[in-house]
Amino acid sequence: MTTPQKPIASGFGAHSTADEVLSGIDLTGKLALVTGGYSGIGLETTRALAKAGAHVVVPARRPETAAEALAGIDGVEVDRLDLGDLDSVRDFADRFLATGRGIDIVINSAGIMACPETRVGPGWEAQFATNHLGHYALVNRLWPAIERGGGRVVAVSSGGHRLSSIRWGDVQFEQDYDKWQAYGQAKTANVLFARHLDTLAAGRGVRAFALHPGGILTPLQRHLPKSEMVALGWIDEDGKPVDPTGFKSPEEGAATQVWAATSPALDGLGGVYLEDCDIAVPAEGDTRGGVRDYAVDPEQAARLWALSAELTGVDAFAG
Ligand SMILES: NC(=O)c1ccc[n+]([C@@H]2O[C@H](COP(=O)([O-])OP(=O)(O)OC[C@H]3O[C@@H](n4cnc5c(N)ncnc54)[C@H](OP(=O)(O)O)[C@@H]3O)[C@@H](O)[C@H]2O)c1
Repeated sequence: MTTPQKPIASGFGAHSTADEVLSGIDLTGKLALVTGGYSGIGLETTRALAKAGAHVVVPARRPETAAEALAGIDGVEVDRLDLGDLDSVRDFADRFLATGRGIDIVINSAGIMACPETRVGPGWEAQFATNHLGHYALVNRLWPAIERGGGRVVAVSSGGHRLSSIRWGDVQFEQDYDKWQAYGQAKTANVLFARHLDTLAAGRGVRAFALHPGGILTPLQRHLPKSEMVALGWIDEDGKPVDPTGFKSPEEGAATQVWAATSPALDGLGGVYLEDCDIAVPAEGDTRGGVRDYAVDPEQAARLWALSAELTGVDAFAG
C-alpha cells in the first residue's frame, strides 16, 4: 500500500500550470472544498477547478473578501470558517454535513507563515493550530462526506518543512518561539497528517497527498518585513523579485495541488509528498528539494494523529 518517494515521470514540471494539468479532465458533477481558496495559489486552484466543471466550496475566515475575490467565477460557494477556532470548524462542518452532499476533493491550502508569536484557542501556537490542527479537525469532522465522495485529500505543505521536525517536547513553542521553526514544524505536520490519513483512509476509498507548491509571491509573505525578504535574496529594494525565474506564478504554484487532487497518474497511490507535479525524492543533505524522512515517518505520523485527536477532541477513525 505504501507509495515510495520516487518520481513517476508525470510529464508535468515546475512550470506546468493548473489549467495544463487539468487539460482533458472533466470535473463536472464533482464537489471540491478548497480552504484559503480566495487568495494566492488557493484562488488560482479554485478558478482552475471551477473552469474544469467542479463545484467549489470555499470556506473563508473573511467571507466578504472571499466573495469579492471570487466574483465572476461560476460554480463557487463561500461559507464562514476560521481554522484557528475549533468551534468555527465544527459549525462549518455541521452546516456542510446537513446539506447531505459528498466531497470528492479536499485541498487544504489555507495557511499562515512566519507570524510573530500568536496564541489561539487554549494558548496554542498559531501556525501549528491554524495550518495543522484546524485542518485536522476539519477533515475529521467532514469525514462522512469525504468518505461518500471517495476521492482525495490534499495537504498543502512546503519545502519549509525541512526547517523543523515535530518538537515533541514543546509542540506549542512555550519556550524559545522562532517564527521559522514554528512554520517548519507546522508544515512537517501537514505532511505527517497526509501520511497517516492515507494509512487510515485508503481501505475506505480515500487517498491523501502532501506537497510543496514552489515559491510564489503572494499575501503569505505578509508577516515578513521587506528588509527580511531583501536579506533572503527574494526581492530587491523596489520590491521586485531578484530572480524572477526563482518564483512560480500563481498559475504554476497551484498546479501541484490540482495535479494531486485530480491526476489519473496518482490513482492507487497515496501518502506521499509531491513537488513540481510529481512525487518528490527523499531530501539528502543540504538540499533545496525533496522530503525529509521525519516528515513521512509512519510512527511519527501516527503519534501526531494521536496528539491531534487528544488536543482537538475529534477522531473520525477512533474505535
Ligand atoms: N506562496 C508560497 O511561496 C508558498 C510556498 C510553500 C508553501 N506554501 C503554502 O501554500 C498555501 C497557500 O499559500 P498562499 O501563498 O496562497 O498564501 P495566501 O495568499 O496568504 O493564502 C492563504 C489563505 O489562507 C487563509 N487563512 C489564513 N488563516 C486562516 C484561518 N485562521 N482560517 C481560515 N483561513 C485562513 C487566508 O485567508 P485571509 O486572507 O482571510 O487571511 C488566505 O485565504 C499555504 O499553506 C502555504 O504554507 C506557499
